Amino acid sequence: MERVKTLISAEEIAAKLEEMGAAITADYRDKDLLMVGVLKGAFIVMADLARHVQLPVEFDFMAVSSYGASTQTSGVVRILKDLDQEITDRNVLIVEDIIDSGLTLNYLMKSLRVRRPASLEVAALLVKEGIQRVPIDVRYTGFRIGPEFVVGYGLDYAGKYRNLPYVGVMEGSE
Ligand code: IMP
Ligand code: MG
Repeated sequence: MERVKTLISAEEIAAKLEEMGAAITADYRDKDLLMVGVLKGAFIVMADLARHVQLPVEFDFMAVSSYGASTQTSGVVRILKDLDQEITDRNVLIVEDIIDSGLTLNYLMKSLRVRRPASLEVAALLVKEGIQRVPIDVRYTGFRIGPEFVVGYGLDYAGKYRNLPYVGVMEGSE
């Protein structure tokens, strides 16, 4: 098994998610909030972030695929699982693990916007600095990182490492 070097520790992530949760709680205080997790990567961020949101939130999930087994974005996004519920007139917050090229999220947001939600915002644990190919307005950002390929806290390399409790870089991958 390759070694993974810690980039962002479990403690740093926990503190950041608490802050993000407090901001979301304040912003959606009188609103009906639906948090939408993008599978598979967001399942851990969603679970941990949601526990810091002190509101009667509802949840839904979508599954998309933008990568094959490679670490390069293909630009091809497939919806593997759509939302279970209607989002018309609802306040939707998309929860993502990481925004890299932005292509996945851009596609997702376009397909959700036509359903006329009352609002549509994004919370992402990680945003890769400067390499978005499409402009994305991320309302709640955890950490900005460099272009390196990271794993852990939901993020995988060829399906593995999602359960690491921190975000790390695989040694030899830089
Ligand atoms: P984008 O469409 O290029 O923004 O890529 C979004 C998706 O690519 C994310 O939801 C991840 O599944 C995957 N991804 C992008 N960068 C990384 C990384 O550094 N590690 C693991 N997965 C990544
Ligand atoms: Mg993903």
